[in-house]
Amino acid sequence: MRVGSFLAFVPVLGAHGIRIIQSNDDGWAEQYARSFHDALIATGHDVVLSAPAENKSGSGSLDLEPNPRKSSCQYDSCPPGSGPIGRNATSPRLNWVNSYPATSMRYGIDTIGPQFWNGEAPELAVAGPNVGSNLNVAVYFSGTVGAAVYAAKARGIPAIAFSGKTTGTLAWDTSPVSQRSLVYAELAAQLTNAVVASGTPYLPDGVFLNVNFPEVSDKCNDASQFKWVLSRINLGVFSAPDVETCGDRRLPIELSVVNRDGCYASISVGDANDKTTAPAAKQAVVLKKLGGLLTCLP
Ligand SMILES: *[C@@H]1O[C@H](CO)[C@@H](O)[C@H](O)[C@H]1NC(C)=O
Ligand SMILES: *[C@@H]1O[C@H](CO)[C@@H](O)[C@H](O)[C@H]1NC(C)=O
Repeated sequence: MRVGSFLAFVPVLGAHGIRIIQSNDDGWAEQYARSFHDALIATGHDVVLSAPAENKSGSGSLDLEPNPRKSSCQYDSCPPGSGPIGRNATSPRLNWVNSYPATSMRYGIDTIGPQFWNGEAPELAVAGPNVGSNLNVAVYFSGTVGAAVYAAKARGIPAIAFSGKTTGTLAWDTSPVSQRSLVYAELAAQLTNAVVASGTPYLPDGVFLNVNFPEVSDKCNDASQFKWVLSRINLGVFSAPDVETCGDRRLPIELSVVNRDGCYASISVGDANDKTTAPAAKQAVVLKKLGGLLTCLP
């Protein structure tokens, strides 16, 4: 058991376990993804990881059939010559695809996940947590967002992309598991469970959630210290008004949320067609679903 014992106390918020497909862009063997995977299992979900065999950061929505691997996978996590896709033999829910994040998500939805779900499709797709923030224009190039958007746009599966500001890569078996990996995992599971508890459809059509966590620091080092703020991805100077909340019809940009003093995590409703901010009507649905969790910036 690699998960810190406090994960046992993550509130499930009345959620029931659902079928979740998970990907990322930093690679299947990156610790942030593994901690989140463990946290989803700990809160009762039926989750399968299908992520790139190595770091494919910055590959946006690229999607190409996987080629057989010649060299070993990231951090020596698979032997050389392991074929185009593979899995951890003793933990078969952990899978790699020798291609891009969006391709890994596609294989997870079509081929890998259904092997665990009696042929059924996932009910929710998650990506990350990414090593490093995905804010503003970076959202467009992010493979983590690319994987989530593939699920939302091409497959109509509600999807959430998670990113954490604290950087520094960690192999899956780094011991003890880093505090930042555990904090991000717990936060990501908390939001996932809030979305699940809000009932179906989990998200409006054609959107994804772009979630960014601030730095895990001396001041913000426990999931219970973090607060959630509804945000927008890009500056809205020429955009139509946002949903009305916190006494305003312009949401803060996510950059200003995660950089604010305090421990504020941003939740933006993204348009899966162009990865910009979704219109007010769709924001309103998410605001209603997550209202109890959200707070206003001071
Ligand atoms: C992946 O590569 C990007 C830059 O290409 C880097 O910023 C990131 O830290 C790398 N991630 C891992 C897990 O190696
Ligand atoms: C595979 O799973 C086993 C057992 O869960 C674990 O000990 C090992 O570190 C994992 N290896 C990789 C590359 O995921």
